[in-house]
Amino acid sequence: MAESQDPETSTPIHSPVLLEEAVNLLAPVDGGIYIDGTLGLGGHTEKILQSCAPSGKVIGFEWDDKALELAKKRLAPFGHRFTAQHRSYSEIMRGLAEENIHKADGLLLDLGVSSLQFDTISRGFTFQAEGPLDMRMDRRRRLTAEEIVNNYSKDDLADIFFYYGEERQARRIAAHITAEREKAPIRTTSHLARIISSAVPKKFHPRKIHIATKVFQALRIAVNKELDNLAAILDLIPEIIRPGGRACIITFHSLEDRLVKWKFKDNPLLHVLTKKPVRPETEEIKINPRARSAKLRAAYVKDSA
Ligand SMILES: C[S@@+](CC[C@H](N)C(=O)[O-])C[C@H]1O[C@@H](n2cnc3c(N)ncnc32)[C@H](O)[C@@H]1O
Repeated sequence: MAESQDPETSTPIHSPVLLEEAVNLLAPVDGGIYIDGTLGLGGHTEKILQSCAPSGKVIGFEWDDKALELAKKRLAPFGHRFTAQHRSYSEIMRGLAEENIHKADGLLLDLGVSSLQFDTISRGFTFQAEGPLDMRMDRRRRLTAEEIVNNYSKDDLADIFFYYGEERQARRIAAHITAEREKAPIRTTSHLARIISSAVPKKFHPRKIHIATKVFQALRIAVNKELDNLAAILDLIPEIIRPGGRACIITFHSLEDRLVKWKFKDNPLLHVLTKKPVRPETEEIKINPRARSAKLRAAYVKDSA
């Protein structure tokens, strides 16, 4: 993905995915209080704030210090209608309590990596360039991809690649990594990508994506405990949102989407609004290829909750 910047301000741009669709489903109203659990650069929040004017509010949660700083700058014109917290969305309950809010009127999660993170080589999310094996969204946390790759057992690595990356060559790749790290520690994204590539015979390399794609996804999920955080917040929806309020979740891979689908379906306090996930139009994918795997699901909290 090419680095995208605002030509006038040199501020990194992240095009919000399924923007209209997500905000329409969230249905913000004047006076409402909305939570953006994955604030990023604030694209969705900006639209929500416009839609719940003049007095609706958004509380943003963001793990990434750089994204948070940029979002605060961008959303400063909204004044007290926007507040932000540097913490995981898995701690929304605590965040709301600190703002003396019992329940909000809606929740949006736009999961995954922002273009800002992906395009910053020093963050280590991409194998397209030589970066450190980091992948932390919250740089206050200690666990990095380097730690996992160099210290986890062969079996643990294989499990991470298989379960979080759905990588069928997981055992083969894990064995190759553990053999290679005996020679020298694996410290960079491109070194790891080369090891993965040489672990798997060419005939098993996928045609449409790089052979390292799924392993990188798996490591990112493990470093940031993405599925654990998502599962936890999905269970808490009726405690975070008032009856009638909505939760809209945008996912970028099947593991997340399945989790959302089943947690929505299995929760007797939720009513699903999207029988099938909402997908981006071809036009959006053309302009923003990152949108191609996006799926949006929404549900509202029933009156009995
Ligand atoms: C796809 S981006 C969101 C982009 C945003 N909707 C926008 O329009 O700019 C996802 C963001 O969620 C953040 N994130 C991921 N997991 C998080 C978590 N558990 N708590 C808080 N933020 C998280 C990432 O750091 C990233 O900035």
